[in-house]
Amino acid sequence: MKKFYIGTNWKMTKTLEEGLLYTRELKKVSEQLDHSKIELFIIPSHPSLIPIKSEIEDSTIKIGAQNMHWEERGAYTGEVSPLMLQEIGMDIIELGHSERRAYFNETDKAINKKVHAALNANMKPLICIGEKLDEKENNISVETLSKQIKLTLKGLNKEHLPHILLAYEPVWAIGENGIPADSAYVSYIHGEIRKILVDLFEETGSQVPILYGGSVNLDNYLSYFEDKNVNGLFIGRAAWDMISFEKILKTCHSLL
Ligand code: 13P
Repeated sequence: MKKFYIGTNWKMTKTLEEGLLYTRELKKVSEQLDHSKIELFIIPSHPSLIPIKSEIEDSTIKIGAQNMHWEERGAYTGEVSPLMLQEIGMDIIELGHSERRAYFNETDKAINKKVHAALNANMKPLICIGEKLDEKENNISVETLSKQIKLTLKGLNKEHLPHILLAYEPVWAIGENGIPADSAYVSYIHGEIRKILVDLFEETGSQVPILYGGSVNLDNYLSYFEDKNVNGLFIGRAAWDMISFEKILKTCHSLL
């Protein structure tokens, strides 16, 4: 049995103090989980990474950053580099979230450079892809995702594939105004993403975990979890509250 991934992107929501309180609670929950079954990860904001990393040092919780530049050093005010994030022990680098694409003009080409940089620094890129509402309505979701996958994974070879994670996050399903996706639709899209990966990388393409994210909540998480095409959940709001996150983690754990 493969591990099921459950992680949360904190976005720009928690101060360090709030993040530490949250992490202490999460550690108590994680101690009750068998980590050969669930890979649990958190993605805090940059200023919290070092203290939160030391808070989880004696646990099996993995930690990642929400973004990074692709260069090791340089005149890029406001950016952080792979070298800096590797130095502080990051396991994962989240790349290409739809909010970064929408508000910070992040392109597939830039994401691709970051994917290579993360792998070169021995950190796992968690690459986010997803179609917009008009793309879904015009029935070009799969074409859109195929283009994103081909461009963001450009230049990778089969040796890289065991070190990447993919998150399917339809733009129309994310955040306060998001519409939760139907689980049959998610299952279909995950199947199509798998086919694209296998087309590109043959058998190794079948090994890449494909997580689902976008308005995952207490009412719908099981419908995604139970689908064999879904290898993990990447959660925002429903994981920021420990009561609901604990319920999601423990229920999934009990069913694995
Ligand atoms: P929500 O679960 O709040 O919709 O956010 C999901 C997300 O953006 C994870 O990266």
